[in-house]
Amino acid sequence: MTVKIWTSDYEVGVESLDADHIMIFSLINHIDDAHQSDCDKQAIGKMLKVLMQRALAHFKREEAFMRKYNYPGLQHHAEEHREIIKDLQKLYVAYQDTSNVIASRAIVRILCSWLEEHIMKSDMQYKPYLSK
Ligand SMILES: [Fe+2]
Ligand SMILES: [Fe+2]
Repeated sequence: MTVKIWTSDYEVGVESLDADHIMIFSLINHIDDAHQSDCDKQAIGKMLKVLMQRALAHFKREEAFMRKYNYPGLQHHAEEHREIIKDLQKLYVAYQDTSNVIASRAIVRILCSWLEEHIMKSDMQYKPYLSK
């Protein structure tokens, strides 16, 4: 089952940031498929780790672009990133402690719906500044 497909509606106009978003959606779908197919917990743990690393690297890259182009909404935007990182890290620690698939599913669901809304509402706001 596909959770979310990236379409050009999500395009923010910076190639590397769009590539990050595509990669994160792909990982989310891949982990979701793994949940449905009795994939072993060790493999899911590794995929979650990659997902977390990619998400953190993306936030850093995005903030660096916003800084470079003096985007006035940087501080508020970075705060949104910090909030979701806190939530994800809590869930990731819970997953590491228990290997509980409920925590793993929660990471996928929360990140997916957060990302969709965040790209459409917050990332889109920097689009005119960064794609000059
Ligand atoms: Fe983003
Ligand atoms: Fe963002």
